[in-house]
Amino acid sequence: MTARSLNGRALARQRNQALKSRIAALPRPPGLAVVLVGEDPASQIYVRRKGVVAGRLGIAHQQIDLPADATQEALLAVIDRLNDDTSVDGILVQLPLPRHLDATVVMDRIDPAKDADGLHPTNTGLLVQGRAGLIACTPHGCMHLLRESGEELSGRDAVVIGRSNIVGRPMAALLEQANCTVTLCHSRTRDLESIVRRSDVVVAAVGRPNLIRGEWIKPGAVVIDVGMNRLEDGSLAGDVFFDEAREVAGAITPVPGGVGPMTIAMLMENTVRAAEARLGRDAM
Ligand code: GUN
Repeated sequence: MTARSLNGRALARQRNQALKSRIAALPRPPGLAVVLVGEDPASQIYVRRKGVVAGRLGIAHQQIDLPADATQEALLAVIDRLNDDTSVDGILVQLPLPRHLDATVVMDRIDPAKDADGLHPTNTGLLVQGRAGLIACTPHGCMHLLRESGEELSGRDAVVIGRSNIVGRPMAALLEQANCTVTLCHSRTRDLESIVRRSDVVVAAVGRPNLIRGEWIKPGAVVIDVGMNRLEDGSLAGDVFFDEAREVAGAITPVPGGVGPMTIAMLMENTVRAAEARLGRDAM
């Protein structure tokens, strides 16, 4: 059996298309500010893509570039300014930050109502409690891809590999809310292979190329690969050994073209949601 490929590009296109009428209904374009500190080449690519999609949808997008040696105070001053700017609905600070900056302090400074990334502890807390807030983009995109697979999630065993605040932790919460029984694995997990072998849903988000082998995958499982690893030859590999896994899985996301475009689509959705909330509130 060869797995169905879960096409994140096509799904993202649909989601983005569906946003257009919501954007047109607003009294002004939604505003998204993306802050990039330093010159990490991967971050530059991701930020550029976000700008391109925002532009296509009619979201007023601004990119603020700070030098790699920017001070914490300078970065916090930018966030304060964006928090106060009434034309800005969504703020995203691209991660990772240079090592001298404290990402926790920086993310905490963003107004939770403008937290287009859904990574502020207020939004993460709301998510864990199953309450409405801005949902972290990558896990939210993964949930849409899982639903796209058509597989029933309720009652299934799911494994999330990686416990980052950006992906693994919120992903585990969302899967639990979809009534999966969730195992959250990390670098100290004993016998990852046997946990993956019994899982109906596998979400890999560790950043280690080809870690998950095809023979570990339960036949028919749905596999979501969040990994984006640049190999020495310049090619991209996920955390899952794709060519092996697709012979066993029921459905699998490719890298690239799987989760990545959905992360951006969810960022656009969060920006529009934040704008709707703000403009609705302002009108009252
Ligand atoms: N770097 C990699 N993924 C992300 C993300 O989802 N948000 C931010 N801000 N930075 C990232």
